[in-house]
Amino acid sequence: MTVPNIILNNGVTMPALGFGVFQTPPDETRIAVAEALKVGYRHIDTAAAYGNERGVGDALKASGLARSDVFIQTKIWINDYGYDETLHSFTKSAGKLGVEQIDLLILHQPLPSAFERTLGAYRALETLLADGKVRAIGVSNFMPEHLERLLREIKVVPAVNQIEVHPYFQQPELQTLHAKHGILTQAWAPIGGITFYRPGFSKSTLEDPVILDIARAHGKSAAQVMLRWGIQEGRSVIPKSVKADRIAENFDVFDFELTQDQLAAIDALNTNERGGPVPDRITLDTFSREIPEA
Ligand SMILES: NC(=O)c1ccc[n+]([C@@H]2O[C@H](COP(=O)([O-])OP(=O)(O)OC[C@H]3O[C@@H](n4cnc5c(N)ncnc54)[C@H](OP(=O)(O)O)[C@@H]3O)[C@@H](O)[C@H]2O)c1
Repeated sequence: MTVPNIILNNGVTMPALGFGVFQTPPDETRIAVAEALKVGYRHIDTAAAYGNERGVGDALKASGLARSDVFIQTKIWINDYGYDETLHSFTKSAGKLGVEQIDLLILHQPLPSAFERTLGAYRALETLLADGKVRAIGVSNFMPEHLERLLREIKVVPAVNQIEVHPYFQQPELQTLHAKHGILTQAWAPIGGITFYRPGFSKSTLEDPVILDIARAHGKSAAQVMLRWGIQEGRSVIPKSVKADRIAENFDVFDFELTQDQLAAIDALNTNERGGPVPDRITLDTFSREIPEA
C-alpha cells in the first residue's frame, strides 16, 4: 500500500496519513508505534506534553528502518515557550526521540495571554529550521486571529496548522485561510475520536447514519470513510489507536474513492461544535505541564 505524499510549503514531503499517539500511555507507545510501522505507517505524530516521545523513539530504533524513511513530528508545550526555552525544548524532544533532526516541529497551542512568548517560541523554530535541526515548522490549534498575528510578525510561514477537524467540526473558514497562505491543514481527531467531550456531548461520528451509509456502499468502516474524506479534501490525517486491528484498518484507505456527492454529504454534517478545548482559553495557569529533560 502506498501512502500519497503531501508537499509542504518549503518543498519537504510528508506522508498524508500519519499515526497519532495522544493519550497512548508511555509504556504502550513503543508497542503501538512498532505495530504502526509494521503495518506501513511512515509518519508519527507525538508531542512533548504526551509524555511518550521516548516510546516513539524506541519503536523507531527497534524497527530497523532508516531514519529518513519515517517522518517524525512533535510539539513544543506552552511551558517551554520563549526563544531560549523552545531552543532547549528541541534538545529535550530530540533526546527522547533519539534523533538528530526532527522532520516537523510545531507549537502545540497559541498562548494568547502571553503571545510574546508564543512569538519567541516560533522564532526559535525559525532558528532551528535555519540550522537544519528541523526540516519544517508549524503550529497547532491556532485560530484565525492567532495565525494572522503570527503571520504579521514572523518570517517563515508555518508549513502546517494542526487543528481539530472531523465531520462534526470542520472549521471551513480556518481551512480557507490556510489555503490562502499555503499552510497545510492537518486534522487531529480525524475520526472524531476526541475524548474531551463536555458533559452531555455524546455525539459519535463513528455512528453517524450518513457516514455509515457511505461506508456500506464501499464495504468500508466509518473510520475508513472519514480518513478517506480528509485525504481526498487535501488534509493530512493522523488517527490514533492502540489496537492492532484498528491500526491496520485505519491504514487501509487507499483502495476506494468517495464521490463528489459523498464528500459533500460529509461536509454537510458540520455542526460547528468543538469537541476539544477552545484554544483561546489555554493558559499556563490551567494547562501548566513541566516537560522533563531527556
Ligand atoms: N494538537 C492537538 O492539540 C491534538 C489534540 C488531539 C489529538 N492530536 C493528535 O491527533 C491524533 C488523533 O486524534 P485523537 O487521538 O484525539 O482522535 P482520533 O484519532 O480521531 O480517534 C482516536 C480514538 O478512536 C478510537 N479508534 C481508533 N481507530 C478506530 C476505528 N477504526 N474504529 C473505532 N474506533 C477507533 C481510538 O481508540 P483505541 O486506541 O482504543 O483504538 C481512540 O479512542 C492524536 O493521537 C494526536 O497525535 C493533537
